[in-house]
Amino acid sequence: QLRMLRSWKRVVPLLKLLGFVGWVVLFCEFLIYYLVMFQCTWPGLKLAHPREKEETSASTLKVLFLSDPHLLGTVRGHWFDKLRREWQMERAFQTAMWYLQPEIVFILGDVFDEGKWSTSQAWADDVRRFQKMFRHSSNTELIVVVGNHDIGFHYEMDQYKLRRFEKVFNFSSAELVSRKGINFVLVNSVALEGDGCSICLAVEEKLHHLSYALNCSRQRQADHSEKCSKVNKTPSSAPILLQHFPLYRISDSECTGEDAAPSEEKNAIFKAKYDVLSHEASQKLIWWFHPRLILSGHTHNACEVIHDRNIPEISVPSFSWRNRNNPSFIMGSISLTDFALSKCFLPRENTVLVIYCTAVASLIFVQAPLQLFHQLLYFTHHLHQKLKPT
Ligand SMILES: *[C@@H]1O[C@H](CO)[C@@H](O)[C@H](O)[C@H]1NC(C)=O
Ligand SMILES: *[C@@H]1O[C@H](CO)[C@@H](O)[C@H](O)[C@H]1NC(C)=O
Repeated sequence: QLRMLRSWKRVVPLLKLLGFVGWVVLFCEFLIYYLVMFQCTWPGLKLAHPREKEETSASTLKVLFLSDPHLLGTVRGHWFDKLRREWQMERAFQTAMWYLQPEIVFILGDVFDEGKWSTSQAWADDVRRFQKMFRHSSNTELIVVVGNHDIGFHYEMDQYKLRRFEKVFNFSSAELVSRKGINFVLVNSVALEGDGCSICLAVEEKLHHLSYALNCSRQRQADHSEKCSKVNKTPSSAPILLQHFPLYRISDSECTGEDAAPSEEKNAIFKAKYDVLSHEASQKLIWWFHPRLILSGHTHNACEVIHDRNIPEISVPSFSWRNRNNPSFIMGSISLTDFALSKCFLPRENTVLVIYCTAVASLIFVQAPLQLFHQLLYFTHHLHQKLKPT
């Protein structure tokens, strides 16, 4: 029995150690996502009358916008990088789904890092991982807009890559999604090169058609009714434009906030048709749709710009730790005439690393010396006993 007690005594420190490590991992890989996300709340719409409150809650759409997850592929992805960042995005997304319960989630492109060149086998594997990470209940709709890493920049893009993307995500290159009377126009911005390529022409034609249909619904004029009779009716509210590339802007120098581009990148001049859309394509989108709001991705940094004096555009930063230390998503409460946006940050990668390092350091510099001290005490005690004259 004494022997058992002794071996038990030896096991106890080991159990304590395991318990400590278990807690640290549990905190850093699960709990921290809840802790951080509990600070996010849905933004409220400004109401003219308090009694409108009940009406608005029924007609307000709760939407999440995120961008650029860049699921790593087989060529450029290191396995540990993949494991770490995909776990981070999965936990962040799942926690957001559980806690915030949005009605729609929009991903603004670059879901995959290597969709532009991946083999069909690698593509299938990427899609499988995507569907696992971004799984969601049937109460939430997930809608994905195409980005240049999914199908390649304009000159790498072809029908094959576009088709396989469209098949998986049920995305067409120009589409109107209407929910609760709110119009979202989804655009394949890679195809807005304006050089008359066949994909570009098809997309522009569809966009033109959508613009026409929206105009018909927005301006019910007598002279219109004849021409508009053949067009499908859409809700009449001003649309929200969603795409991967931002509209043309010179640089990010005007952007502010803790997740704007770092100061050394801010003044870099953007290349049209590469970093941002061309000037012409941007003007066209504005003329055609007169959107009340634009959301885009691609830059991985946050920014807010105003086009034509009253059209705000929000650059949604990347959702992945791989692209930034403080990823985030945008929460939107949207009604027919109004919208309110707020940003929800995910845990910072640095915070998690610091917690792990502190835990390891405390094991090495606090626990280990403590153990040593105990053993020393034990040893001297024994020595003392042995040397004690009997
Ligand atoms: C795919 O999108 C179309 C509209 O573009 C929609 O009618 C259809 O229900 C969608 N299918 C699935 C499986 O989501
Ligand atoms: C729709 O109306 C806007 C604003 O009046 C206009 O600029 C645009 O060209 C119209 N769209 C089409 C397809 O005619």
